[in-house]
Formats: sequence, structure tokens, C-alpha cells
Amino acid sequence: MVNIAVLGYGTVGSGVVEVIDTNGAGINQRIGEKLQVKYVLDLKDFPGDPVQEKIVHDFETIIQDEEINIVVEVMGGIEPAYTFVKRSLLAGKSVATSNKALVAKHGAELLSIAKEKNINFLFEASVGGGIPIIRPLNSSLTADEIEEITGILNGTTNYMLTKMFYEGADYDTVLKEAQANGYAERNPEADVEGYDACRKIAILSSLISGNQVDFEDIYCEGITKITTEDMKYAKTMGTTIKLLASSKRDGSRLHAIVAPCMLYPEHPLYNVNGVFNAIFVHGNVLGDAMFYGSGAGKLPTASAVVADVVDAAKHLNRNIMTMWKQEKLTLEDKGDAKR
Ligand code: HSE
Repeated sequence: MVNIAVLGYGTVGSGVVEVIDTNGAGINQRIGEKLQVKYVLDLKDFPGDPVQEKIVHDFETIIQDEEINIVVEVMGGIEPAYTFVKRSLLAGKSVATSNKALVAKHGAELLSIAKEKNINFLFEASVGGGIPIIRPLNSSLTADEIEEITGILNGTTNYMLTKMFYEGADYDTVLKEAQANGYAERNPEADVEGYDACRKIAILSSLISGNQVDFEDIYCEGITKITTEDMKYAKTMGTTIKLLASSKRDGSRLHAIVAPCMLYPEHPLYNVNGVFNAIFVHGNVLGDAMFYGSGAGKLPTASAVVADVVDAAKHLNRNIMTMWKQEKLTLEDKGDAKR
């Protein structure tokens, strides 16, 4: 039996429980053992929900239970997530997380603890929701020097820009819709100012360069200044506007940026619409590859988290993630946005 604890029963946490309930038989078969959610940590109670019997309010119950092999952190934010994740790893429990803020800031340290303990710190869901990108960069594409990653990495803003482009919808209305659909961050400023995409490209940049890339160093501009008028002009010019996050490597130099860009229909990211994300990757021997799919939302994100749980369960005593060094990489173009 592989026992897990889920930290946080919000949108993604409840999705994780749902995915394990729905696909349990196949998941167990792929692990070769039964996967069980033993605890769910949350501040609240959920009377009437079958999850209630697993709810605990104190992290100590989880950390002190030697039967817990894997901790799923889906609380978001830096604290207390960082403390809980670090303590879990130090106690020999693998961690799967969707928390991009945590990975962008503390990824190097947490990966190094996991390596030392011969367990895993996995974060597929932190970038691109349900789209596989961390795992490919960590395995299938590791023969390459990745020279470029350019993506639409935020579902909320892509949903908004798509509606503004095709329906002439106004900014405030589409933001409310995205929030109602459960795509937006708790504080939507993180989406619309580009900070969420910025953290994601910082994680990908750290992975491809092998050094810590701080999101504060990346030039970041969101979509708050894009109006329906701008969209009309873009359309007249035969283009659309997309929020792109891009990282380009040239030897040891790295350029990274998050900004709204005008794209012609020939661009591979032109037709990525709605809440979908897409990530274009160029490797020096591979050439081009594209990853496309559901970039946000409860079940796609939970799908990636549970896939990490399955991987962690299959490698309980073997570290499988490539690390990046804590030494910071100095970027070519320094960011100037407040985050
Ligand atoms: N708010 C994020 C987005 C959620 O819209 O893409 C997924 O990281």
C-alpha cells in the first residue's frame, strides 16, 4: 500500500482526490500497489463530503506518520507550503506539487534535498497545467541543449485574449468569466500582470540552463493595458495578440521575457485559444517540438499532480529528477517589473 497525504482541499486538492477515486484501478495497476489517500490537510471541515473522514487540521499528524510515503502539496503560496514540503522531504517523504511560486523560489534547494534523501520532488503541474513539459525536459529531451522555449503559459489570460479577439468582449467581463471557471489565481493580478507566466518560464529556464533563474530578473509585462481597440487594430493588421513567455539560450547567455506579442497566423502559437496552453521547444539536435493541451483547471492540473504521485510511488527509493544549481544565472536583459 502506498499512502499519501494531500495538503489543501481547494480546487486542485479536490481534483486530486477525484482523479484517484475515478481512475484508482488503473493507477493501482500501474504502480503495482494500492494507492490510498490517508489524510487531507485543510483548515476547514467538509461535512457531508466523504473526504471528511480523512481531514486533519494539523500537519504534525502527517509528518509523524511513517506510513505516509508521498505528500501532495496543492495549497499554493510560499508559506506554510515551503516549510511543510521541506520537512516532508527531510523526513524521507517524496513530494508532488502544483505550486509554481514554491518551485520558482525554492526548487533548487528542494530538488537537492530530494536527491540527498534518494526520494523525489516532482512538479509537473507547476507549468502548463495538464500538459507534460517538466517530465519531457527531464527525460526525453535530455540529450539536447534546449535553445528556446516559447509558450502560452497562462490559461486565464489566453482565455481572456481569445474572447477579446473573437467576440470583441471587454477586459473586465472576460476576467470575471475566467475567475468563475476556476482558471484564475486567487489573486488574479498574478495572471493579468504576467507574474504567473513569469514564474513558469523561470522554472523552465532553470531546468534548461541548470542554474537558478529568478523570476524577479525576468522582464515581465502583462495584459492589463490591452484594450478591445488594440485587438481591433491587431485584427486589421492580420494578427492576434498573445501573452508569450520566452526563454532563449545562446551559449551561457540566457534571455527571458514575458510580454503581449502580435502574432501572424503562420506562428505556431497563433491558433492556441481559450484556456489552452502550448509550449514550443527548440533543441540543438532535436529541432522543434510542440506541447499543447489544457493549461489550467481542476482536473487537468490534478491529472499532472497524480501522474507525479504515480511516478513517485514507482520510484520510492530512487531519485529521478535532474537538479539545477542554486547559483543564480545572471540574465542578459534584467526585468524591471514589481512582483
Ligand atoms: N492561473 C493559472 C492559469 C492556473 O490561468 O494558467 C494554472 O497555473
